[in-house]
Amino acid sequence: MSPPKKSAKIREPSFANNAQAIRMSLLAWFRKQKRELPWRKTENSYQILVSEIMLQQTQVKTVIPYYRRWIESFPTVHKLASAEESQVLKHWEGLGYYSRAKNLKQSAEIIVTKFDGMVPETMEDLIRLPGIGRYTAGAILSIAFGLKVPVLDGNVKRVLSRLFRMNENGNNRESENRLWSKAGELVPEKNAGDFNQALMELGATLCLPKKPDCERCPLSAICESKLHGVQDKFPPAKTRAPAKKIKVSAGVILNRGKVYIQKRPKGGLMSGLWEFPGGKVERGETPEACLRREIKEELSIDISVKKKLMVINHSYTRFRVTLHVFHCEKLPGRIRSNACEQWQWVPLKDLKAYPFPAANVKIVESLINGHKIRK
Ligand code: ADE
Repeated sequence: MSPPKKSAKIREPSFANNAQAIRMSLLAWFRKQKRELPWRKTENSYQILVSEIMLQQTQVKTVIPYYRRWIESFPTVHKLASAEESQVLKHWEGLGYYSRAKNLKQSAEIIVTKFDGMVPETMEDLIRLPGIGRYTAGAILSIAFGLKVPVLDGNVKRVLSRLFRMNENGNNRESENRLWSKAGELVPEKNAGDFNQALMELGATLCLPKKPDCERCPLSAICESKLHGVQDKFPPAKTRAPAKKIKVSAGVILNRGKVYIQKRPKGGLMSGLWEFPGGKVERGETPEACLRREIKEELSIDISVKKKLMVINHSYTRFRVTLHVFHCEKLPGRIRSNACEQWQWVPLKDLKAYPFPAANVKIVESLINGHKIRK
């Protein structure tokens, strides 16, 4: 007897059926339960692009007020392209990952000059714009233009891993590619934008990292992890180095009612934003000694460190920063700043006009709200 023929590889009917059930259940749920979000009220592709850049690694509730202010100030791609960079950064102040704001402005300039002011409608053109990767391009193409293109963010990875019991967390290129393939197989021809948003929404509201709310999940009857009772095993945990703790000093140098601020150098982290001078406290150094040393190194002046004004804790992706802020007085000598793009003495009341990183915003607010600076 001849051995059974190896059948040609065909898509498993169970996946096709399941995929259709997943699409229908998810879309029906999304239409009923979706959150009213400002960018869901528009079909303007530029405004959708703005929302997707803001939503990169940032939660919806954080983005909403930023998005509203942005659209009020820069309602069109032309307005953004012709805006001052410092104005653009001011609108991003506190949202983090500031290169996104600079890339967004640069993308607007390219869209105006190369695409006649129209957001490109192909993957190829979109991913050439600064700050737009495969995920953001997929979101724009599906939501703004209705194209059948998948998305894959952290939430979608978790949903897919649980739904299909895929032992993947997207931690490396191969794993990420397998999840992209699955997302690509699922995305429907019609309503791709709603479907993609529904996947993201499910991950953000019910299919949470801890304690997924399977009771209210529209996919619980078809979710493989739920059926096997192993929701907590998927996706497999990522190994990540713990955030490094660093201690930093910053000085509020006051001189005749004005305060010294400097603009961070071009090309580096948070470039274009303003800050109070200071730096990292070295091992065995006091925060006060650190400040004297840093200011001598960076401004070539001596200071007298006065009262500690506040201690601010701030978390970045890989760092936990404790910022010690001191009132300082400048001792005689001429400032020669060598670690910044630009520096200025600014009246306290005008500080708000400058864009600062989040931890520095706390200092500005405290100074403007009348923090008593006593010697
Ligand atoms: N995260 C990224 N894009 C999103 C969108 N359009 N809606 C909700 N969450 C998102």
